[in-house]
Amino acid sequence: MTSSAVGFLGMGYYVPEKVLTNFDLEKMMDTSDEWIVTRTGIRQRHIAAPDQATSDLALIAAKRALEDAGLTAEDIDLIVVATESPDMKFPSVACILQDKLGASHAAAFDLAAGCSGFIYGCGIASQTIASGLYRHVLVVGAETLSRILNWHDRSTCIIFGDGAGAAVLGPVEPGYGILAVDLGAKGAGGPFLTLPAGGSRLPASHETVDAGDHYLHMNGSEVFKFAVKVVGTSTLKVLKKAGLGKADIDLLVPHQANMRIIASAAKRLNLPMEKIMVNLDKYANTSAASVPIALCEARDQGRVHKNDRIVMVGFGAGLTYGSLVVKWQRDEEAKHE
Ligand code: UT7
Repeated sequence: MTSSAVGFLGMGYYVPEKVLTNFDLEKMMDTSDEWIVTRTGIRQRHIAAPDQATSDLALIAAKRALEDAGLTAEDIDLIVVATESPDMKFPSVACILQDKLGASHAAAFDLAAGCSGFIYGCGIASQTIASGLYRHVLVVGAETLSRILNWHDRSTCIIFGDGAGAAVLGPVEPGYGILAVDLGAKGAGGPFLTLPAGGSRLPASHETVDAGDHYLHMNGSEVFKFAVKVVGTSTLKVLKKAGLGKADIDLLVPHQANMRIIASAAKRLNLPMEKIMVNLDKYANTSAASVPIALCEARDQGRVHKNDRIVMVGFGAGLTYGSLVVKWQRDEEAKHE
């Protein structure tokens, strides 16, 4: 059966138990809670246990999303995992997840679009459903960034955290679901956010390890400038594609990277903070997992209702950006945490 309307049938997220606060970081390096809160808005992050890899986090989030959708793993036709911190180079996290879930009918692949990965995944996956190729697609954003951070580099390690968020996409009633998608990239900015070693350009060696090139490197201020620009422009573009304006946004779910980036988007889009989901204070920047975790948590807090127009927007390594606008089709009940 072909359906052109595709929406979110179920969602779930998971963050590891261990919490690392800014005060814990103060004991590990030359930083302060005051600096981190003022410059980013982050107060703590969750860190995976030593025996947890990205697919383990993804598995819990995926099971929760399937349960929420009232579907089983056997109903899934395609699994897309957005991640920059896979269990290993290959096989993909999506294939590991396919096996762990028992999603025996599903095709599976990973997608590398940095922190925009979940939005890229939903945008592309929704087209495979709209075209009639697949009926149910599981899109997961999952990261164990703590494993690729240099814990001696205070300019990067303080902003990231671990976690996973998942959504099951499928056909919805006409008029609902994903109304428009805007995806883009600026590859010239790639060097601003990179993990240099371990690929074909710079294979892993004692030298690359000694130089710390197996860790994430970032030019924070360049990524910041890019983010401030694209969050506004991509959101306005996706709204226009959907035939909507700024005033039609019921909830903005931005990538949770920095409170100052979110505040500048609020200003540009004329949005009061009540219409913006923010949870970076608790989880920090979980890269590809940040948007689905924030969306799930907004729903659990009773901030997502049937007929709401929700805009998700992200940016990240690549450099990439992406946004999508959804008209929510489900009656949601707040879960009190
Ligand atoms: O998901 C996409 C990935 N990335 C992002 O979204 C990141 C976007 N960028 C940012 O969020 C910000 O650029 C950061 C939070 C990473 C950095 O904030 P900033 O305001 O751009 O700081 P800065 O790098 O310009 O550094 C300002 C000062 C420097 O000291 P001096 O040279 O002025 O004396 C840094 O050494 O702050 C210092 N600094 C710190 N001080 C205490 C940098 N990191 C820290 C720290 N604690 N953790």
